[in-house]
Amino acid sequence: MVSVKDVAAAADVSVGTVSNVLNHPDKVSAATIERVQQVIEDLGFVRNDAARQLRAGRSRSIGLVVLDVGNPFFAEVARGAEERAAEEGLVVLLGGADQKPDRESAYLDLFRQQRVLGVLITPVSEDVAALRRLNEAGIPVVLVDREMPGEAFRAVSVDDVEGGHLAVSHLLALGRRRIAVVAGPASVPQVADRLEGARRAVAASPDAVLEVIEAEALTVLAGREAGERIRERAERPDAVFAVNDLLAVGVLQALALADSGVRVPEDIALIGYDDIDFAASTVVPLTSIRQPARALGSTAVDLLLAEHAAPGAGERAIRYRPELVVRESTIGRAAG
Ligand code: RIB
Repeated sequence: MVSVKDVAAAADVSVGTVSNVLNHPDKVSAATIERVQQVIEDLGFVRNDAARQLRAGRSRSIGLVVLDVGNPFFAEVARGAEERAAEEGLVVLLGGADQKPDRESAYLDLFRQQRVLGVLITPVSEDVAALRRLNEAGIPVVLVDREMPGEAFRAVSVDDVEGGHLAVSHLLALGRRRIAVVAGPASVPQVADRLEGARRAVAASPDAVLEVIEAEALTVLAGREAGERIRERAERPDAVFAVNDLLAVGVLQALALADSGVRVPEDIALIGYDDIDFAASTVVPLTSIRQPARALGSTAVDLLLAEHAAPGAGERAIRYRPELVVRESTIGRAAG
């Protein structure tokens, strides 16, 4: 299917210009309009009627509520959603729940008052009632980075059980046997799933043991605190799986200190999760489990448009697979 991006590239204009040619031709020169329309005809581009109808009758905005706007993972999710929405002449209103149910509720109320086209959300709470009420009010809800089996919401996510299994299998394959999982609150389903995957990998390796080190939050500071606890121990793990990269960066800060007496990965191999941009540039480049964050955002917008185009029909849940990205924090510096 020819997209707005394809038209923009072929006409050598921005996606925004193509959107203006389609929706606000008064903002574009006659020559550009002619050139873009010729490309539209040549490529056989067909505009997305659902988006056009939506713009005609309602707000042009989509609400997005994420767990933590301070986490680069969610910044990438938001960027993917914004880029896809802009192709349809729509905008994204971003709210950060900061893991607090009352903050989440405040954003849901705001988006309902704004009559947004839909709400894309990584839910903090299990309070499905508020999400069902939005759906019933004609504001479709799309779950991002989560699934809720048995609920009517469309969802896009990553298989976090597979991701946890992939992370710890990599450590086991390197010969590590004393695995510590630095985990945030198990109340976060993504954390619980990654831990479940880790447990399954260790269970399949008879001479391996797993311990869980609870971090207070999914942040660099909480990771550093967990790393200091590990560093001070007489009996340390020989590998750490941190359930997201922010925790892993914090653990690395605590262990990679010059006088820590601990070397990464020689003494402790370290793997994170998300593969956020700066994972590759940490003092010891971080091995991580990559999530397609930007694709999660753009796919959530596609699912919302699909729900408006044909309520209840089509794909309900899209689940991406995690990917292992190996760097020095587990395999060390390449020889030579
Ligand atoms: O918010 C906690 C974690 O869940 C993020 O780091 C990301 O991994 C998300 O899936």
